[in-house]
Amino acid sequence: MDIKISDRLKKLPPYLFVEIDRLKRQAKGAGKDIIDLGVGDPDQPPPKFIINALCSALKEANIHKYALDLGQPELRQAIADWYRKRFNVRLNPDTEILPLIGSKEGIAHIPLALINPRDVALVPDPCYPPYKSGVIFAGGKLHLMPLLEENAFLPDLSAIKKGVARSAKLLFINYPNNPTSAVAGLKFFGEISRFAAKNNIIVCHDAAYSEITFDGYKQPSFLQAKGARGVGIEFHSLSKTFNMTGWRIGFACGNARVISALAKVKSNIDSGIFNAIQKAGITALKHKSDHLVKTNKLYQERRDVLVDGLNSIGLEVKKPRATFYVWIKVPHGHDSMTLSQKLLRNAGIVVTPGNGFGKSGEGFIRIALTVSKERIKEAVDRIKKVL
Ligand SMILES: Cc1ncc(COP(=O)(O)O)c(C=O)c1O
Repeated sequence: MDIKISDRLKKLPPYLFVEIDRLKRQAKGAGKDIIDLGVGDPDQPPPKFIINALCSALKEANIHKYALDLGQPELRQAIADWYRKRFNVRLNPDTEILPLIGSKEGIAHIPLALINPRDVALVPDPCYPPYKSGVIFAGGKLHLMPLLEENAFLPDLSAIKKGVARSAKLLFINYPNNPTSAVAGLKFFGEISRFAAKNNIIVCHDAAYSEITFDGYKQPSFLQAKGARGVGIEFHSLSKTFNMTGWRIGFACGNARVISALAKVKSNIDSGIFNAIQKAGITALKHKSDHLVKTNKLYQERRDVLVDGLNSIGLEVKKPRATFYVWIKVPHGHDSMTLSQKLLRNAGIVVTPGNGFGKSGEGFIRIALTVSKERIKEAVDRIKKVL
């Protein structure tokens, strides 16, 4: 039989990590000692109190049944309480909050709720890949907003032509940013909010890393900006905050009309988050613990070992204020891919080539701080020998 793949699937951008994945498998197969600085997945477990909450929930009689599409009312209330405490923003748990099976799920589905074929979506470049694939699946057209070092990795709204801005329906932003690790403040969010209101564009702010911050930095919410709730929503995740990536729980919040449109898409596709995970999520959000302080201290120490180490061998790298990524300019004589391949072949180090996140990521590599300080030190020593 001739199995034909849909045109929509064929339109996805090429997967540029293939070659790195192949080299990684090959090196591991050959028994090489690989330091994997590629994966954006915390190496630490979730705190015990969350694991205990999951274990007790699993023993409840009706926990195994289908969950409510809109999430347990107690979870939505816990999210509203957390949001008010964290950002001083009051959200209506019935209309302005929607639990998700991880924020990726909502990010990938939101274009189906808002985009008609050929509608334009403004998407940062480089970026977390589902912004692009979600828009493509919905039949929309991508207009890329380059994130450049000279603009502190913020999109330059003045560079977007009036005609493009007027035809755009949706705009993605993401701070703290993956892969550049840049942060954005309320001034920038205010500009985005005004730009969106003027051009009738719905804003989706991905705040998956809002809690992973260093040196006392606190990331504001987009919804704190004036007018933001009129124009958009924000995505949050429990994945990085509580080391729960595999558990699949996050949420969207903000503009009630957008939230209800996303809920409608989801009710036709999934059947909610497993109830036991929702209960554990409630515990995570309500619990007063020093988990985040400890987690961020750990990443900050690793960041310092990496950045100080790289600076000492002549690579100019700035210390990020958030995320567990370091975005590093490749030295002269290399591009993203050649450097990544060289580090893997000659030093047994996996890094992510920046161009895998989009054209404007060329000239950078991304290193994740998801291995111990000792391994990071070892990685710096190996990089020194190879460069
Ligand atoms: C920028 C960004 N947003 C969202 C996600 C998705 O997180 P999750 O689906 O686990 O909530 C990730 C995961 O790596 C990410 O890097």
